[in-house]
Amino acid sequence: MKEICRLENIVKKFNMGEEVTPLYNLNLTVNEGDFIIIEGPSGSGKSTLLYLIGTLLKADQGKYFFEGKNIDEYNDSGLSNIRARKIGFLFQESNLIQALTLRQNIEFVSKEKKIDSKELTDLLKKLGLDDRENFLPFQLSGGQRRRAGLARSIICKPKLILADEPTNDLDQKWSDVVMNLLVEKTKENSAVVMVTHNKDLIKFASKSYLLKDGSLKNI
Ligand SMILES: Nc1ncnc2c1ncn2[C@@H]1O[C@H](COP(=O)(O)OP(=O)(O)OP(=O)(O)O)[C@@H](O)[C@H]1O
Ligand SMILES: [Mg+2]
Repeated sequence: MKEICRLENIVKKFNMGEEVTPLYNLNLTVNEGDFIIIEGPSGSGKSTLLYLIGTLLKADQGKYFFEGKNIDEYNDSGLSNIRARKIGFLFQESNLIQALTLRQNIEFVSKEKKIDSKELTDLLKKLGLDDRENFLPFQLSGGQRRRAGLARSIICKPKLILADEPTNDLDQKWSDVVMNLLVEKTKENSAVVMVTHNKDLIKFASKSYLLKDGSLKNI
């Protein structure tokens, strides 16, 4: 399977008076078709890791290769390009634009790539959002906002989908729909890296890890 990205001995520190090191000598390879689930308790560094993979944060030490090229060799517009064309990010907190409707939020983020209107309609239907597409974010429930965020992260068929707690706020039925949709994407040769504190979701993964003491242990 073709490699999408690789992290080698990544160290990430934050210093807010007291130093915190959520990631320490962390290694991870993501190949096409992988469904990687990383589990870990609150504060263990899961979101930090996804930001790093999504090129929204830079590591303090270590190397990060995206499609074989060291990330340090890209300038800002090169990185924006990767984010826009190759990566779909479902953030932990809803970051829908408040002035746009659900459907406009999804169309807006993907305006560089022509999205198929029918495909979007079908996806919204699958996610139970078809009767909510003209609602503004504040008129949606937490679970509907999360599903809208998921639709936005996958509609452009990114090579790499990064999902931060995608099933939070969802009941069992919608949690299963979301997880199965992510599994479907890995069959289309995308890869998913998902982080969660919910151990029950590990059964959906092709590879699973525990984030502990800054690095990944096989589960
Ligand atoms: N921008 C930042 N500045 C300072 N410290 C940060 C920053 N982002 C994260 N941290 C710290 O890094 C640690 C890991 O945070 P992170 O958000 O990655 O955890 P998490 O595993 O995603 O937790 P949760 O399950 O609660 O979402 C925490 O101790 C947090 O306070
Ligand atoms: Mg988090």
